[in-house]
Amino acid sequence: MRCRRVIVTHYGGPDELRVVEEECPEPKDGEVRLRVLAAGVSLPDVMMREGIHPETPRLPFTPGWDLVGMVDRLGGGISGIEPGQIFAALPISGAYTEFICLSQRELVPVPAGLDAAEAVSLVLNYVTAYQMLHRSARVKPGQSVLIHGAAGGVGTALLQLGGLAGLKMYGTCSPRGASAVSDLGGIPIDYQHKDFVKEVLRLTGEGVDAVFDGIGGANIWRSRKALRPGGRVIAFGLTASLSGGRLASGRSGGRHRFREIRVFGLYIAGGWLLPGRKRVVPYSIQWLKRLKPELFRQDLTALFDLLQQKKIKPLIAERFPLDEARRAQELLGKGGVTGKIVLVPEHGIAIEGHQV
Ligand SMILES: NC(=O)c1ccc[n+]([C@@H]2O[C@H](COP(=O)([O-])OP(=O)(O)OC[C@H]3O[C@@H](n4cnc5c(N)ncnc54)[C@H](OP(=O)(O)O)[C@@H]3O)[C@@H](O)[C@H]2O)c1
Repeated sequence: MRCRRVIVTHYGGPDELRVVEEECPEPKDGEVRLRVLAAGVSLPDVMMREGIHPETPRLPFTPGWDLVGMVDRLGGGISGIEPGQIFAALPISGAYTEFICLSQRELVPVPAGLDAAEAVSLVLNYVTAYQMLHRSARVKPGQSVLIHGAAGGVGTALLQLGGLAGLKMYGTCSPRGASAVSDLGGIPIDYQHKDFVKEVLRLTGEGVDAVFDGIGGANIWRSRKALRPGGRVIAFGLTASLSGGRLASGRSGGRHRFREIRVFGLYIAGGWLLPGRKRVVPYSIQWLKRLKPELFRQDLTALFDLLQQKKIKPLIAERFPLDEARRAQELLGKGGVTGKIVLVPEHGIAIEGHQV
């Protein structure tokens, strides 16, 4: 059987994304083949295409951190799984495809009846948001937090989960994202026209309990200034290394993959050494999953429950067919997107018990 996937053959802009057709992969022993129903499009995908994300695979590679798929074929030695079951996974790369083979250990069951695009939004963005809130910052009801990039994929997840946790929330966003941030219970701060540190101190008096900083670089230092004594910056991203979806430095990727991470380390060390009891704590979904895979499974399962109970509702910015992966990444890179962009390889096909 033939199938299609997206590949990157050189680090660079969205034009480097190509669709290829080839023989479908066959599952090895211990593996399951999934027909991909939805794959997330996220800034880490864009950073890998540019060659600057520390997880960037060797060329050529298929991008795509997160997916929801239906079991289509079983490799040898698989038990307890039937064709037709729906699972979610975070392979980190490889999800922009029609079919993927994954180890049974990687699969987390998706309850019946969920929309595949909404379900896939939980895998990277909501697990990231949930673990940062409850495992890194250990928030308590009534505390105040600042969320950067609050209208984006992870940002809207932080707002919804922060609202459930009873937090007072401030969110930086461009003017286009302000209404989405206030609809989700946050107080928008226009980072393009206002100094967010001054604004947070004006609104809170002594600063917030936690800042979620996916922007990186010097922004981490400014985030620290928005904390009250004893507060934490959770540093989790490098959005500032991109501009318009391309490398902000203008350098080529690949060779500079670890530069931003070194800068990250300096800020974390500074947070420990400087007075004021304000810490900078890094968060990485992939490292936590590698070190404690049971936490990823447990947290994603808890989030599926919240989705089933309609306590959370992921915002889907747009759904694209697989062939339009390039346009999807271009749109994300331009900025101003509210919520999650999703690739839906078989757009519009209804599968028993699941909306696609
Ligand atoms: N550590 C982890 O485990 C982990 C997991 C997932 C994601 N991430 C990281 O999280 C970050 C966000 O990813 P995402 O997929 O949610 O991206 P996204 O959907 O594109 O959201 C990013 C948001 O940031 C806003 N933004 C850009 N520059 C900003 C600035 N200087 N101040 C405040 N907001 C700004 C953008 O809005 P405008 O363009 O409208 O301003 C956009 O809404 C990325 O750096 C990604 O690598 C990390």
